[in-house]
Amino acid sequence: MQRIRFTPEKLLYIIVLFFLSCNTETEMKKQGNDFSPPVSFNRATVWADSIVKLMTLDEKITFIGGDRVFFTNPIPRLNIPAVMMADATMGVHIRNNFDYQGHNYLYDTVLHKSTAFPASILLASTWNKSLAGEYAQSIGEECRAAGISVLLGPGMNIYRISQCGRNFEYFGEDPYLASRMVENYVTGLQSTGTIATLKHFMGNNTDYFRRKSNSIIDERTIHEIYTPAFKAGINAGAMAVMTSYNLLNGEYCGQSESVINNLLRGQLGFKWMVVTDWWSVNDGEKLIKSGQDLEMPWRIATRDADSLVHNGIVKEKNIDRMVTSILRILYAMNAFSRKQEKGYLEKFSEHEKVALQTAREGIVLLRNENKILPIELPQKKILLTGEYLDTIAGGGGAAEVEGYNHIALSGALKKEFGEQLKIVKHASDAEIRSASIVILSIGTKDHEGWDRPFDLPAELENRILKVAGLNSNTIVIVNSGSGINMSQWYNKVGAILYAWYGGQNGATAVAEIISGKVNPSGKLPITIEKDFKDSPGYGYMPQGAQFYAGWNDSGERKQPIYDVVYKEGIFVGYRWYEKNNIEPLYPFGFGLSYTDFKYSNLKLSKNIFGEADEIVVSFEITNIGKRVGAETAQLYIQDIKSSVPRPVKELKGFEKAIINPGESKAISMILKYKDFAYWDTTKKSWYTEPGKFNILVGSSSSKIELSCDIGLE
Ligand code: BGC
Repeated sequence: MQRIRFTPEKLLYIIVLFFLSCNTETEMKKQGNDFSPPVSFNRATVWADSIVKLMTLDEKITFIGGDRVFFTNPIPRLNIPAVMMADATMGVHIRNNFDYQGHNYLYDTVLHKSTAFPASILLASTWNKSLAGEYAQSIGEECRAAGISVLLGPGMNIYRISQCGRNFEYFGEDPYLASRMVENYVTGLQSTGTIATLKHFMGNNTDYFRRKSNSIIDERTIHEIYTPAFKAGINAGAMAVMTSYNLLNGEYCGQSESVINNLLRGQLGFKWMVVTDWWSVNDGEKLIKSGQDLEMPWRIATRDADSLVHNGIVKEKNIDRMVTSILRILYAMNAFSRKQEKGYLEKFSEHEKVALQTAREGIVLLRNENKILPIELPQKKILLTGEYLDTIAGGGGAAEVEGYNHIALSGALKKEFGEQLKIVKHASDAEIRSASIVILSIGTKDHEGWDRPFDLPAELENRILKVAGLNSNTIVIVNSGSGINMSQWYNKVGAILYAWYGGQNGATAVAEIISGKVNPSGKLPITIEKDFKDSPGYGYMPQGAQFYAGWNDSGERKQPIYDVVYKEGIFVGYRWYEKNNIEPLYPFGFGLSYTDFKYSNLKLSKNIFGEADEIVVSFEITNIGKRVGAETAQLYIQDIKSSVPRPVKELKGFEKAIINPGESKAISMILKYKDFAYWDTTKKSWYTEPGKFNILVGSSSSKIELSCDIGLE
């Protein structure tokens, strides 16, 4: 009998295979806002370390870069497969093929459809935490259907300037609101076995030549404004973080030790995998020493890793650390045994429902003069005109999702109003004048890679003014991913519905709100200024800069680095407008309903509290109108006297409740001692200063309904 001979190599190969096959799906743990993967960090580390020992230096160096633009590199000798990633933020970006520099990459294993969800800024406008979880879970299930293990999202850069081309991909201007949405997103997504990637770390708040912008941000502002959403995602268990294109305080984020090792891993406690943004790094030595793990989409900066190791400039153990980090998350989440799970396709109709519900709750009614909305009288002659009548408005770039079962505005409104509705893209003056109501749809095409002006193009602005002049019963629907200038016409039209980018069936929600089937309940996650000069970020573009549109990566690389000084510090969004007494056009947290609410009976469980205490803030909201409606109550704190400058108010709680006409609902929120803290730069930590604070409960940041004070010991 011939004996089987096991070389050490063969033996190890069998061990790897054995572990990969043992590591089949076990329960993921999701408790409240905490997520743990099926294989723990420690167990996955032991496994990853054992694999690293089997790898040659060449294999390791290959592994710290990507493959075919959206994959990790396979290690065939060790039977480690490639793992697929996909973009996020309006659903899963399915790429069946990808053209880059003359290469055509075919991803023949992926699905041919995914649901086009509303953009993240619309999700933030729902102020509905559990909906954020359902939304992300649906996206995670679509990743499973496509065999995608790593979702390149959610994005969570703070809205500093309305002109940023990527605001639609993020959660607005407030760190507390963004944090609550992000943590629910992360647990919802990861509960499906799909890895969440928090992006773009750090200070990527403009897309104007983003590879060349150097964000200058002080320490306190980093901690109070720009990192809380990342920290919330980390605490919720997010297993990947993507660094950004820009520089932070003089260093490219993707290869900066102070950004990755010190801030992200050290101060924020992130322990899993860090990945670069695509083609965003240029220095291998810095990158390897920075705490970065995976360079995507392939090795450019780390091309010299081999000679860096051989010349003793970096140590092989630095490379080992990177490899371990990549292997660890993929093993911990079972990504190596991931197949396309066709069963999830059956859930797509549920996902469409979640997308629709998100749009219903996130569209914001900004103006409703003489209760022009909802349009309920059957005899009305309604004219629909403008843009995005037969197409779905959406942002552009990595976040783009094509969707299916598209319902555009003309179809959706036709369904509600039938023969009452006349659709004319370029309506004549006579048609506008003779309509009893005009629905004018407008929008902006926001896009990754460049910013766009706050002001609408002159032609569009004039068109709105003209339509409003001809017929004051005009309802403007805004399809945009960010704030726009409405100062010249907001008070000349009957209603404004901020519809954001609603995804494949968002127009249905718009039509249902117009017809009154749905009572709007979205509230702004941003402040909309009157004039861009009012904005905290005004002047961020270099002198003489011109807006551009279209990808121009090579042109961008030739641009000089320019500084974006965050001179307003912690005073971003409503914190800025309130401190400087600048009245915005529409304040943060604002949104109208078809019913009215009354707030009453504010109570605190304690009037004085110390470090170990929690206080319960409770009050009631009564629906005093005639329709069922949802209200989001917002809880702000206000430091009465402080040794450092503090915002006039800071959001520290919110709750959304559905209330029937005549009904009163009891609402309660919990405040902890740390909720009153600021980042103390001398102590290098959060510090709660004893003293008196006001507790403010409002229906928006500018409409405080109830207040009382509290003492902190
Ligand atoms: C974007 C990322 C995206 C990546 C991969 C980059 O251009 O900034 O957000 O995940 O491309 O598509």
